[in-house]
Amino acid sequence: MSANTAHAGTSPAAKDGRFEPVILAFTCNWCSYRAADLAGTARMKYPPNVRLVRLMCSGRVDPAFVMRAFADGADAVVLTGCWPADCHYRIQNVKALRRFLLLRRVLESMGIEPARFQRFYASAAEGQQLAAEFDRIVEEVRALGPLDWAGRQAAYVPSADGGPGARAGGADAQGGAAGAGAARAAAPPAERELAEVTA
Ligand code: FES
Repeated sequence: MSANTAHAGTSPAAKDGRFEPVILAFTCNWCSYRAADLAGTARMKYPPNVRLVRLMCSGRVDPAFVMRAFADGADAVVLTGCWPADCHYRIQNVKALRRFLLLRRVLESMGIEPARFQRFYASAAEGQQLAAEFDRIVEEVRALGPLDWAGRQAAYVPSADGGPGARAGGADAQGGAAGAGAARAAAPPAERELAEVTA
């Protein structure tokens, strides 16, 4: 499936009334997609909630793909790719990391929790690690509940100073500034990572 035609699809059948999130994962042809393949052939299980989209490089992920995935029903989006020195297209994965950081800020300003937009590296040999990461992400998103993109868009009021927006009626689903601050604190330290890989 190409990113242009990707559709988040419907949730897997709920078990015991439990919310089953739909998670779209963009994978790199050379590493994370092969890691997923390895997980499959080695019968390592990861949740059916994760739908894979194969691209030639994580650097191919356009922010519009991510927004489209959310708008089409994904409860979370994951970017996966080669480790920093292993990208087949030199430093495209570093560029992908920069775009990820910017887009996550935009999403946070819209009230989208960081756990709904994550990234990790996986080499072709790391099928087990990839399955474990997907397990973790599914659990985190399950705890958050459905995204309700349309409802959030309807309630979103951009702030005049360009800072984080507010919810119409004053009620913030994350518990206001304290909730947003806590969510940011819980986010992976990707900014630190970017400084390290570009040093
Ligand atoms: Fe895998 Fe670039 S080729 S991230």
